[in-house]
Amino acid sequence: MKQDFNDFHARLAAHDDRAINPSGNAPLRELIDPRRRGLLKGSLGLAGLAFLGGGLSACKAVAQRKSLLGFEAIPPQLDPAFDSVQVAPGYSARVFFSWGDPVLADAPAWKADASDDWQAQLMQAGDNHDGMHFFPFPDAPDDHGLLVINHEYVNPPLHPHGMNLVDGKRPLAEVRKEQAAHGVSVIEVRKDVQGRWQRVLPSRYNRRISTLTPMALAGPLAGHALMKTVTDPSGREVLGTLNNCSSGFTPWGTYLACEENWHNYFVNHDPDDLTARASHNRYGIAGSGLSKNYGWETADPRFDATPDPRQPHGGHVHEPHRFGWVVEIDPFDPASTPVKRTAFGRYCRECSVLSLGEDGRMAFYSGDDTKGEYVYKFVPAGRYVPGADQSNRRLLDSGTLYVARFDADGSGEWLALEHGRNGLTAENGFPGQAEVLLNARVAADRAGATPMDRPEWVAVHPHSREVYVTLTNNDERGGRQPLDKANPRPHNLHGQIVRWREEGGDPTATRFQWDIFLLAGEPQGVRDAAGRPLAANLIGTIEGDRFSSPDGLAFDGEGRLWIETDYGDDEPVMQAMGTNQLLCADPVTREVRRFLVGPRGCEITGITWSPDYRAMWINVQHPELSFPASDGKTRPRSSTLLITKDDGGVIGT
Ligand code: FEO
Ligand code: CA
Ligand code: CA
Ligand code: CA
Repeated sequence: MKQDFNDFHARLAAHDDRAINPSGNAPLRELIDPRRRGLLKGSLGLAGLAFLGGGLSACKAVAQRKSLLGFEAIPPQLDPAFDSVQVAPGYSARVFFSWGDPVLADAPAWKADASDDWQAQLMQAGDNHDGMHFFPFPDAPDDHGLLVINHEYVNPPLHPHGMNLVDGKRPLAEVRKEQAAHGVSVIEVRKDVQGRWQRVLPSRYNRRISTLTPMALAGPLAGHALMKTVTDPSGREVLGTLNNCSSGFTPWGTYLACEENWHNYFVNHDPDDLTARASHNRYGIAGSGLSKNYGWETADPRFDATPDPRQPHGGHVHEPHRFGWVVEIDPFDPASTPVKRTAFGRYCRECSVLSLGEDGRMAFYSGDDTKGEYVYKFVPAGRYVPGADQSNRRLLDSGTLYVARFDADGSGEWLALEHGRNGLTAENGFPGQAEVLLNARVAADRAGATPMDRPEWVAVHPHSREVYVTLTNNDERGGRQPLDKANPRPHNLHGQIVRWREEGGDPTATRFQWDIFLLAGEPQGVRDAAGRPLAANLIGTIEGDRFSSPDGLAFDGEGRLWIETDYGDDEPVMQAMGTNQLLCADPVTREVRRFLVGPRGCEITGITWSPDYRAMWINVQHPELSFPASDGKTRPRSSTLLITKDDGGVIGT
């Protein structure tokens, strides 16, 4: 029996249906490793300082200054057959790195019929480009660097005839190719003699990391009984990474790939065990049929987490414990082993975004992108010391995981997920810190965190350290999750951006002040119980362009806030928004302008710059038609785009 298995795409689009929660003061440049320093060039200035700690009123006080947005907005792209990219006048976008492009020198050229096998795929760009970061070389930071790119998941066009089930099983060759197409690409890039950015091949730095790459476990859970499996009795070595969505970087020049919807790769067919095991059920692991994503467990038994009492450690029941972490990768050392840092806690982690204090103390922020899940930060116990490479690496193995509570009066508190505090005791099901970190969602429930509208990316303002998070949407808000001040819109289809200011501008503070930066969508159409426009009640009129479901989010060095969207552009309610897009906001005036629109069916995601902000890379993920060939017949390929200003200037000016 051969069965079409290509509803995966639809299932992944239904991502939105997941809901299982039952309950700069100082110049940062001076503080960062020399390898990274170039990145913050141009970030010094007074504009952002004006609203440090001042919130909305301070914003109004400086609202008269010149807009940060120097480009002409473009209209939404409403053509249902649009299969290209359109960018603001005076800018150019070129396809830079697509699924199947060579990464390693021996990689075969991509075959348009997708007949490349899994060994070829291991040497080529993976699928579904997502979060990424540019790491400059210190001797020529504006001209030469390493681009590190996540490959989040895979699409059926990975194979000549989509994904197949044969007699109830996935063919192993297909599964291996899918595993090879997940993970991370590291590619060397530099300007040629004409000043055009090119990929360097061969390169001693180029590397593919996948679901088949050995990785180390470090931190409180390394070697713990809960991490041991039949194939890894040490509990210290994991094969590969899954669903690397967004990312982050450290001051010492490493990349942080984040594991988001890892639960969709597992199944536990024992209903009693699934019900009893919070580390499976609280994360949404499937209990019947095939795993939600690709049915890998039918060919690769480690993804079947059903207990097997005949095997040590119950077989693979602990394998799902080994995903949901931050993976630290040193892009400058292609022989290095990626390390999963368990001190960060385990959830469906979107990103891991640094805020660095003047004294070297840090916070790494992230959302857990599921309806009604939480915003977290990890504060390392130690301080970053420039140049102290070896001790800096150990900073990510001890510290405090916090989760956010947003109070109705505009204040907020970071609740420590620490054994013995906030109800995290043995009587409440947490024998020790290992269980707190492993079941961070359950710990956050117990501590009393605020359930949010699917927290995605976080961005930290380069001058003020004000923190912004995208809450992409939540159609169950007002139902399963009650309305609150930070999540105020019932049946929230369009999402919002919330921001906060840590007390004293200190990344490690436990108190903060927050407000809503914007409500996306069509705010005038949304009314509160008294019939007043909801957005107007909250923040006044939003200036600028319509869009839905903010997801990717990043500041450039001058404090422009770049917003990337991810919604189903074929859904009737989204039709006025056009295709997914890249917008730019001025955080002071709240003006938003549309900068770029993508091809039909894609998500726009991933964003990074050269240190001089004259080159920007973004990703077009899962285009639907035939992008980037755009010829109406070639299979679509997720792609990184390079964006430059035609006069060579800074992007956005
Ligand atoms: Fe993979 Fe939450 O986006
Ligand atoms: Ca994505
Ligand atoms: Ca995302
Ligand atoms: Ca999204």
